[in-house]
Amino acid sequence: MVTMTVNGKTVSSETDPETPLLYVLRNELELNGAKFGCGLGQCGACTVLVDGRAAISCLLPLAALEGRSVTTLEGLGSADDPGPVQAAFIEEQAAQCGYCIPGMIMRTAGLLNETPDPNDEEIRAALQPNLCRCGTHMRILRAARRAAGRPSGEDGFAFAGERATGQAPAEDEETPA
Ligand code: FES
Ligand code: FES
Repeated sequence: MVTMTVNGKTVSSETDPETPLLYVLRNELELNGAKFGCGLGQCGACTVLVDGRAAISCLLPLAALEGRSVTTLEGLGSADDPGPVQAAFIEEQAAQCGYCIPGMIMRTAGLLNETPDPNDEEIRAALQPNLCRCGTHMRILRAARRAAGRPSGEDGFAFAGERATGQAPAEDEETPA
């Protein structure tokens, strides 16, 4: 049995301890905020916080969570009462299909836990592991800035899209998937 804290509640699971945390969250605890994207640690859709730091839950075995604190998207707020990072993403309408956004929000929350006033390079570096196939990078950047209490701004920026395409987008141009 593995006992951990999930969104402030103590949870004990008798699932095989080698099971990835993502499956436990979604299938056992019915916390579907974290998404299954690749299952290989390459997209970031499954990002959660472990002890306040961003973690890829599709690669993290349940056994590694003994005594640790997990926060999922649901732990940051709700549709009726979104937390500050969620509210920033809503305000900036930082989503197209939305599939990557829970991971982006969790990654941003983890960044702000460690670096409360990040500059653009720090945001870019923190979000680099997370991919957005819809190319909403500009809005995600603005949302991250807003979540950090900064003006959201309008200038050109890209992170995961550069890796996906091998090319930096033109200024003020959102990166296509
Ligand atoms: S589903 Fe975990 S990194 Fe893609
Ligand atoms: S909004 Fe569709 S993958 Fe990012």
